[in-house]
Amino acid sequence: MAEELKSIPEPPKEVIVRVKRYDPDKNKTWWQEYKIPTYRGMTVLDALLWIKEHLDPTLSMRYSCRMGVCGSCGMLINGVPRLACQTQVGAVATPENPVITVEPLPNFPVVRDLITDFSGFFEKHKSIKPYIIRKDPKEVDEAPREFLMKPEELEEIYQYTLCIMCGLCYAACPVAASDPEYLGPQALTQAYRFIADVRDEGAEERIVVVDTEHGCHRCHFAASCSAVCPKEVDPAAAIQRLRRIVFLRRLGLWKKEKGSPVAGPLEKPLREVKAEYPKHNLLPGVDPEQQAKEPVTIDFREEWLKE
Ligand code: SF4
Ligand code: SF4
Ligand code: FES
Repeated sequence: MAEELKSIPEPPKEVIVRVKRYDPDKNKTWWQEYKIPTYRGMTVLDALLWIKEHLDPTLSMRYSCRMGVCGSCGMLINGVPRLACQTQVGAVATPENPVITVEPLPNFPVVRDLITDFSGFFEKHKSIKPYIIRKDPKEVDEAPREFLMKPEELEEIYQYTLCIMCGLCYAACPVAASDPEYLGPQALTQAYRFIADVRDEGAEERIVVVDTEHGCHRCHFAASCSAVCPKEVDPAAAIQRLRRIVFLRRLGLWKKEKGSPVAGPLEKPLREVKAEYPKHNLLPGVDPEQQAKEPVTIDFREEWLKE
């Protein structure tokens, strides 16, 4: 990672951030430019937050973790769907061309400025039933149970479990651009991820959702989705695997074996919490041993608050 960062060129001393704005109250779209100073390590999200803090508090964007995990800062940066918190200014602006264009993600309705509406995208994700389904609901409901899986079986699907639902693949997909009902790379990948999971028995319920004119058959396999995925999930590969399953099933040649075995009810709770409290962190009056036995009421006194 350190080596990767070293290979990113120093950003120009100043950059022009060109932002596509949208005001829903006036139904108005326009481009706005901001000239800002930079520093080594500045990301595009840092640049937008600098603008918000120093130049224009009305600029709106969505973000949360600032470390490529929550998936909320996706936007179109220099024409490519990227996570703003993972995109270094030095990687997208040069002294010869110090202009960075920032737009909301395509294929999503715009709410305001760089904020897009993900509700349809999440509905598509929900439609493929993204959770382990067992034919005998007691195996799920009668907790606690453990569904068994071998390490090599996890390896088969591991890559597809890394999706952070950032929507970059969906924004890059030309089919999603022309067919708003297309399930899209994220939902189709998750359908494959659960169908291929040895613990799952819900393949039939998902195949009826993906084997439609707006499902996996619409994919063109140009793999724009995989090219922009920040987590290297490779949705195009997952969709190819999904299509193979769907075709084989149509020919009567695919049948998911029964899901992997479930361990019996656990004799012990899954996790025993044995907290060891450093004494200096305890409030006066708290006895951890007593607290383990019964809830403790702390009697707050005025003098403690004054210290
Ligand atoms: S490979 Fe399929 S899902 Fe991915 S961008 Fe192309 S058409 Fe869309
Ligand atoms: S597959 Fe990749 S690009 Fe698509 S939503 Fe998941 S993490 Fe984002
Ligand atoms: S802010 Fe969480 S992924 Fe960028």
